[in-house]
Amino acid sequence: MSKIRKLLIAGNWKMHKGVRETENFLNELKESFDNDVFDKVDIAVCPPFVSLYTASIVLRGSKIYLGAQNVFYEKEGAFTGEISPSMLKEIEVKYVIVGHSERRKIIGETDETIAKKIKVIVEEGMIPIFCVGETLKEREKGIEEDVVERQLIRGLKFVQKQDDFVIAYEPVWAIGTGKTATPEIAGKIHGFIRSKLKEIFDEKKAFEIKILYGGSIKPENIQELISHPEIDGGLVGGASLKKDSFISIIKNSIRSLKYD
Ligand code: PGA
Repeated sequence: MSKIRKLLIAGNWKMHKGVRETENFLNELKESFDNDVFDKVDIAVCPPFVSLYTASIVLRGSKIYLGAQNVFYEKEGAFTGEISPSMLKEIEVKYVIVGHSERRKIIGETDETIAKKIKVIVEEGMIPIFCVGETLKEREKGIEEDVVERQLIRGLKFVQKQDDFVIAYEPVWAIGTGKTATPEIAGKIHGFIRSKLKEIFDEKKAFEIKILYGGSIKPENIQELISHPEIDGGLVGGASLKKDSFISIIKNSIRSLKYD
């Protein structure tokens, strides 16, 4: 099977790894891949803010990309505790996670603030990894597609056709629970997301956009997930924290690919 879109595997470290641990981890990680791996899969790590600059220095000259876990939607000003898009851009951040369910639920992030964040990220030339996904209750009610559609339409409100972005479908019931969506369950929603992207933008744009799956990805299930034509990679939480499991996920993700 060959993939239509280049794979992306991004590690979301959440609130793990301070400066020293980040430095050690990334110094080892960047030596762990042969060059041809990067032809098949884009690799990114998303450390917490305090470790981002160190990560940026360690990764300079390597092919591993840097991602942030959040950003504020204003460019500069009196916003105590916030980080602006240009600050991230300055240290060579490429991706920014937006709308993660933990931020929606625990921090109270709304579709409105998510839309504003996505706007400033693309304006700064970075790529949002925009997370959507339903809770277990919503799935049990059979309204998962309605939820995802609403999140998509509201979050992409300011996005133009020429803007680059990535969608991560992360069913809340699968995050950190050890319960992974099957490739069929994830693939069905990915297909639905792509059909909505077609309605919002057009067929070409919908075809180009990477849709990642996230939620209890492990070395043992990534290959099967990637085998689904609609799944273009993964946003990996817990299993990205250990070097061996993150490396195995990346290596297994390309195992089912065959290039002519
Ligand atoms: P998990 O987290 O892999 O630990 O389930 C995924 C995520 O929250 O992005």
